[in-house]
Amino acid sequence: MKTLTDLSPQEKYSKFVRPELGKILNLLKLDVVYSKACSDKLEFIEKEKTKVVYDFLGGFGSTILGHNHPELTRLATDLLGQKVPIHTQASTRAKSADLAEALNFLIQKHTADTRLFITTLTNSGTEAVEAAIKHALLEWNQKKSDFILKIKAQNAREPNSLLENYIKELESLKPLLLAVEGSFHGKTAASVAATANDAYRSMYRAGGLFDVSFLNPENSLEKLENLIGDLDCKCNLASFSRIIGFIFEPIQGEGGINELASEFLQGAEKYLRPRGVPLICDEIQSGLYRTGSFLAVTRAQVRPDYILLGKSLGGGLAKIGAVLVAREHYQDHFGWIHTSTFAEDDFSSALALKTLDILETHKDDIEKRAIDFYHDIKSCIDTINIKFPKVIKKFKGRGFFLGIEFSFEESTKLPDLLHGFYENGHATYFYMSYLLRQCGVRVGVTLSAPETIRIEPSVFISAEAKASLVLGLERLCQILYERKVLKLTSHLWKQEFSQLQLEVVAPAKEPLPKREEGVREVGFLTHVLHARHARDMCTSLKPVALEKIDKFLADYANQAIPFKFHRQKITGRNGEEIFLNIYGLFLSTAFFEKNVRGQSLQAFQKTQDAVKMAAADGVTNLGLGQFTSIVSDNGLLLDPCGTYLTTGNSLTAAMAVQGILSLAEERKFNLANARLGVVGFSGNICHVISQLLADSVKSMTLIHREPIEKSPKFQKAVEDLLVSSKILPENLKLSHHVEDLRDCDVVVVGTNSTQEFIRSSHIKSNAIVLDVSVPSNIHREVWLRSDVACFQGGLARLPNDQKIQHPWIPYTDIGTFSCIAETVSLGLAGIMRPFSLGKLSKLQILESLEIAKKVGVGLAGLRPQDSHIGVNPKSDTILID
Ligand SMILES: Cc1ncc(COP(=O)(O)O)c(C=O)c1O
Repeated sequence: MKTLTDLSPQEKYSKFVRPELGKILNLLKLDVVYSKACSDKLEFIEKEKTKVVYDFLGGFGSTILGHNHPELTRLATDLLGQKVPIHTQASTRAKSADLAEALNFLIQKHTADTRLFITTLTNSGTEAVEAAIKHALLEWNQKKSDFILKIKAQNAREPNSLLENYIKELESLKPLLLAVEGSFHGKTAASVAATANDAYRSMYRAGGLFDVSFLNPENSLEKLENLIGDLDCKCNLASFSRIIGFIFEPIQGEGGINELASEFLQGAEKYLRPRGVPLICDEIQSGLYRTGSFLAVTRAQVRPDYILLGKSLGGGLAKIGAVLVAREHYQDHFGWIHTSTFAEDDFSSALALKTLDILETHKDDIEKRAIDFYHDIKSCIDTINIKFPKVIKKFKGRGFFLGIEFSFEESTKLPDLLHGFYENGHATYFYMSYLLRQCGVRVGVTLSAPETIRIEPSVFISAEAKASLVLGLERLCQILYERKVLKLTSHLWKQEFSQLQLEVVAPAKEPLPKREEGVREVGFLTHVLHARHARDMCTSLKPVALEKIDKFLADYANQAIPFKFHRQKITGRNGEEIFLNIYGLFLSTAFFEKNVRGQSLQAFQKTQDAVKMAAADGVTNLGLGQFTSIVSDNGLLLDPCGTYLTTGNSLTAAMAVQGILSLAEERKFNLANARLGVVGFSGNICHVISQLLADSVKSMTLIHREPIEKSPKFQKAVEDLLVSSKILPENLKLSHHVEDLRDCDVVVVGTNSTQEFIRSSHIKSNAIVLDVSVPSNIHREVWLRSDVACFQGGLARLPNDQKIQHPWIPYTDIGTFSCIAETVSLGLAGIMRPFSLGKLSKLQILESLEIAKKVGVGLAGLRPQDSHIGVNPKSDTILID
């Protein structure tokens, strides 16, 4: 076949198959192309070397016999060699019949259930769930029709208005499926509706064919009985349940390897069986000896009416699932209306039969191995818990179906940065990556429990593989315990590091203070400024090249979700107290800028999500830091969700003006004779700064990014300036060349650009330069000039010099960003209305100053530009930090 591109397999996968996943696999260096799979080993070739890893993810639980079990591959080859028919629909499918009989035999042999089960074969697990729900609906509808007929007959005999109403109620009754919190049943329409994780099901939640109610398995039996009872549609003569079925996994896999208590399942059976509601047991992951026994549900001593199988059934070679429905529940019509082209193919059925045969032959050995495997890993975890306490929270599961839940509790001294990734749902992805790349073992994350890694190898896993896993887990836990983030991630950066660098300890996450009655909750939203800022978030990552961090941030962007990383109490000079909650997004300014320029709504949507999150936390006043205000048109586009939003821009402008005035005074600089240059004049902040300073200076140079005649916005801003100040038109120079700053004595810079386009050659000798842009637009060579007074503007001091005690917030030594200070002021002053949204006015600036003064917020000491935070990473080479 001709190819369209000469891309690498990884690039092709990202381009043509899964753009987002491809990026994340690459970012975590999980994007290997496995070229050989045998038993518990997988091979891939990298830099012309063959690398071998032990597989503990086991094809998401499907390679129960290991990869390419020789008896199965032999059978597959023989079948193909003999040219056996594979797709002969609408004929007697002999192999399917054999398989269905074998499954009945095994159920009778291994459970106390002697009922006949009718088997529907499917192509996947999710299709088995889909078919089971469809069947349950059919069964329920049939039962409902029969029931209504009975009531109608009764009503015909003795007409009764009560019965008539009851019939109407029954006719409009919406069916309901009971599932369990934490469940996972697949990702197609019906199965995902029964899956608890909102990230997967939200688009299917509303208006489906049936409702779903998720039971909390920790609830008391009394509560369970009441819940089930409440779903009865009753009149005083009869009762009919809304419930079409109760679907459950005996051990929840994707939910974090959680075993459901026998009492819970027995309770459900006790209340559902009399109502004729089928128990639908999803053994797709837990069944077929995954836990050491044929079905995991046997232990709970309940008798499911539907049994769902998948994954292991195909022995890792065939794609096959099965729904087994007890004869008394089975609707004969189902076999007529539910078909699929590939289901019942002879090839898959033959392989499934062989898989069952191999498992049965080895069942005693498998049972013993399962117990041993569990105990071996448990004893490894016990040792880890002694050596590296608190890293692991729980060890869960049975046999070859195990979960290790890592601790992310506040009392665990985890690296701050890792905690952020945990909040984003991805910390254990880094653990998985470390184990694969640095220890040669492949484990999985669980899809709905971001703190748990899962281990589900083949039942024939070797002692050698087990030893590698034990070693890998010990090494991983030691790294986490010692907070060595670079050691954990060194393979991601394609860079050499010294031993010393790898040993650097990252700062720990500090516990956040608890809520207090009567103390207002205030919030502020931030994001990563740029790669340098990101790198400074974790001392361990200092040696990583900035372009690598840049790429990481860019590739990660779509996955980033808002999270709270800091919280502290702040007291105002007016005696009021607030808790300041700071929310972050692992998104760099460049991402926001790209969104603004490309008119994408992604950055806006993430900002909106953060507002929702803060509102759910009970935040009253919420400040929009950096680009979150720009993408939301200075806050105007956002739904405040009940909070009072502010961009904090009023105080930023006020502090910049105060900064210039105080600098001029300190330097005995006569502003009345000076020319003021403003870069970003038509922007919200610089426009109002210009209005406030116009009467104090002699002349002004207003710089715009593009030719003036092309920008009505700029022209309008100039008109406004002339109306609102005494400055004369002849004293205004309008330009779109930064070079025109050369004759300015004072320069104010505040744009949305992330570039450092103001160079030394643009600045006059002995000028005063104030920079309110974050990140800075001023090149380092300007900051380094001794004759120029170059300062970071727009910084404020919190009341009584309180500091924001988190390293991710810059400038904490002298104050903080004025937009944070404005949010704090509004919270302390109890201003319960939106503030600084949209276009700023002179009046608003004065009001913000007033409020700030009242609570003790003022101008921070001015400081030369910080050597790293505010500066664009691209000029990395000029300063040595
Ligand atoms: C319990 C359970 N049910 C259903 C499914 C869906 O199976 P499949 O991925 O084959 O569609 C899974 C998959 O992980 C599962 O674990």
